[in-house]
Amino acid sequence: VVRAVTTAAAAAPAIDPTLQDSLKRAVAKRAVELVKPGMIVGLGTGSTSSMAIQELGKLVSQGKLKDVVGVASSYQSRILARQYGVKTVDLNDVNVIDFAFDGADEVDASMNLIKGGGAAHTMEKVVDAMAKQCIILVDQTKVVSKLGLTFPVPVEVLPFAISPVLRALVGLGGVPEIRNALRKDGPVITDLGNMVVDVRFPDGVKDPAEMERSINMIPGVVESGLFVGIANTVLVATRDGDEITI
Ligand code: 5RP
Repeated sequence: VVRAVTTAAAAAPAIDPTLQDSLKRAVAKRAVELVKPGMIVGLGTGSTSSMAIQELGKLVSQGKLKDVVGVASSYQSRILARQYGVKTVDLNDVNVIDFAFDGADEVDASMNLIKGGGAAHTMEKVVDAMAKQCIILVDQTKVVSKLGLTFPVPVEVLPFAISPVLRALVGLGGVPEIRNALRKDGPVITDLGNMVVDVRFPDGVKDPAEMERSINMIPGVVESGLFVGIANTVLVATRDGDEITI
């Protein structure tokens, strides 16, 4: 069932991880149904995008999608694509990306996004923005009425400039925290060699476009995880088995 959502949905309660995975798989399969032979496809990063890359690989190996090539948004996606038989090309070798799929950490009713939970948002933004059609794949837990109330805004920062950037983020009303590796033995370093700062906004992000601009204007910031005006479609899998497009 596909129906249009015209009003902001409230944040959905957390769901069982197994169910969440099956919802992610469902939207991943839907997304690759939209890929046509010969397309240059932007490959997002994260668990949902990984499932879509796997599903794309299955169709390619069945000979159903001849001459499809991927443009990866991270080393993780590039390695996975190769593993599943999807050829990849460098972003700089293409003039256009026909179609891109990607996940998100939060989505609002205007298709503004928070991305970067996987520390890949800088390259993702370039790939997604270059695509003629960018489709975002989420399960219902990611749909919120206001961005930033539960998920912080990831910001990629030059290590050289970490202190002034942290101060400037506080100046914007944020509570920044340098993202640490799981084993707590140092900061997360992105594919581009930078650090990630997660910025909490106690009252959420009031104006995503303005906040994206303000963050990106701080010298030393490489890119913020606020994505405004990039998604063309958001596909939301719900626990009732519906797929809703925003
Ligand atoms: C990586 C991202 C991911 O798309 C985002 O974190 C969603 O991930 P998942 O599909 O695993 O929930 O922005 O930087």
